[in-house]
Formats: sequence, C-alpha cells, structure tokens
Amino acid sequence: MDSKEVILIIDDELGPREAMRMVLKDDYTVLTASSGKEGLEYLSKNHVHLVILDIKMPDMDGISALQEIKKNNRDTEVVMVTAYASLDTARSALRFGAHDYLIKPFDKDDVLDVVKSGLIKRANSEKSRTEIQQLRKTKEYLEEEVENAKRNFMTCYDGAIKALIQAIDAKDRYTYKHSEHVAQLSKAIAGSLGLSDAMITKIEQAALIHDIGKIGVDELILRKEGKLTLMEFDEMKKHTVIGNRIVNSVPFMEGTIEVVLYHHERFDGSGYPEGLKGSEIPLHVRIVSVADAINAMNIDRHYRKALSGDFIIKELRENAGTQFDPEIIAPFLKGHIPLTDI
Ligand SMILES: [Fe+2]
Repeated sequence: MDSKEVILIIDDELGPREAMRMVLKDDYTVLTASSGKEGLEYLSKNHVHLVILDIKMPDMDGISALQEIKKNNRDTEVVMVTAYASLDTARSALRFGAHDYLIKPFDKDDVLDVVKSGLIKRANSEKSRTEIQQLRKTKEYLEEEVENAKRNFMTCYDGAIKALIQAIDAKDRYTYKHSEHVAQLSKAIAGSLGLSDAMITKIEQAALIHDIGKIGVDELILRKEGKLTLMEFDEMKKHTVIGNRIVNSVPFMEGTIEVVLYHHERFDGSGYPEGLKGSEIPLHVRIVSVADAINAMNIDRHYRKALSGDFIIKELRENAGTQFDPEIIAPFLKGHIPLTDI
C-alpha cells in the first residue's frame, strides 16, 4: 500500500501544473485537476493532505475554490500559487485559511519547503484534535467515576444510618417508634421553613437516630414505668454524649452528630449537655428538638395518656423563647402543620 501523502495540484494551465508535479512526484502521491470545479469534485471523494491551488483560473478563481475547500475539508492544507500581479490576493488568501503561497515562476526548493511545512502543520493540528478528543473522553470517564463514587458513598452512608436504626429497634421498640415519628415531624417542620430537599433529608436521617445513645443506657432505667429518680434521670441524660461517641466513629456525620448531642438543649440555655443558647444551637437541631418534644407529649406513656392537640399548642406557646425557638414552633401556632396530622 502506498503510504505517501497525497497532494492535489489545481491549475488550469498545463505547463505550470506539470512542472509542479515533477517537483513533487518523487516524495508524494501527486494528483492534478485543471479547474476548481474538477478539484472540488475530487476532494469530495478522496482523501487529500494538501492542495496546491492556482489563484487565477477562468471558471472558478482560487479564492472561491479555497473557501469551498475549507468549508468541507477543514483538515486539508492549501498552498496558493500566484503571479506577482496577484500577490495581494495571495496574501488575503491567508485570511481564508490558506497555509502559504508560492510565486510563479517558483523555485523547486521553495515548493518542497512550503509543502513540507504545510504537511507538518496538518499533522500537528490532527494530533491536537486527537488529544482534545482523548481529553474529552477522559473527562467524561472521570465525571462518571465521581458520580459512581458519590452513589457508593450514599449507599454506605444510608447503610450506616439503617444499621444504627436497627440497633435502636433491637434495644428498645418504644424509642424506635418515637424516632420514626420525630423524623416525620422534623421533615414537616423543615419543609414548612423552606429548607432545601437535601437539607430536609439530612434532618430526617439525623432525627431517626437522635436517641441512638439510649442503646448505652441501662434497660431498667430505659423501660422503667413511672417517674425516674434524680439519679436515674442523670443516667438517662447521658444518652446524648453516648450517642455522640457512637456516631462520631462514622465519617461525614457532622450534622447528625450535632442532633444526637444537642437535641436536649433548650432555647434559653437551660438544657443539657452543654447549656447552649439560641443560635448557638444549630437550626437543624432546634427543629429536631421541637419535633422530639411534641412527639413526647403526643403519645401514650406508662403514667399518662397522650396529651391533646390543644394542650400541646398551649405548651408550645407558653414555652416559646424558653424551651423552644419561636421561629420553629410558628408553623404549629399558625396551623400550617396541623397537630392532627402527626
Ligand atoms: Fe433524647
């Protein structure tokens, strides 16, 4: 197979056309056409590396032929051939994408030099295009890998949350059910405050395991019917810090850790474990705290029946600014989240 590069000479005059062919024929596969039209037709059907194009031709001039060539064969380099009289035209051809020009009568070495540099330019631009294509493919591949990694990470994260929920369920069915209700209510509050979907999901997940520390509390205290003694209550309070230790060992759970550790803080600073106050308590924690307190009032306990919706609203109103953040309980006081729905 002939692997020589292909040169097409387009010139209406036989003499210069043949002279050019003789100069190039030893190093390249040389083809000739006697008009712009014939040359374009040849280019539409064959692979040509470089065209040598006469500017002055009767049917289609060289500039028009050049524009047509560049329109359909972007990779093909074009060298214009001109007489001194048309030198300005040849120079203007460079603006339309010609590689260079040769002046008649041409020098053999000039022809070989110009053709060689045109072919090198073509090879380089082809190489650059291939590299760009490869870079694009690499970018697409990496983007896909990042998406896969994100998906895998979310699967692991969800798995960790589920494992912790199962741990609560195994230890204490009551806490498990309470956590589910707190998660639903936290979701409703976060939604009514206009938080983003991603934030709502994080709050919901954090609420599901807010009492995870209770798996480290003595079962006798956890399941005691009747009021806890002061000492027992102190033991029970430890579930926030125990939970913190459990969740701390799972990566990327910062937001969840805050809920686990601080959900018994109060808006006025009288809560535990650290006595945080107002905006020191992160917003998502304040949301879960309100949901936690509402659900605690809204379910049957060993020592009392579930409290009525009216009573809960009254409690929320009376403890606004002390136990509860007024902004978080507003959706309940305004009836945006009906207590009958929870
Ligand atoms: Fe708790």
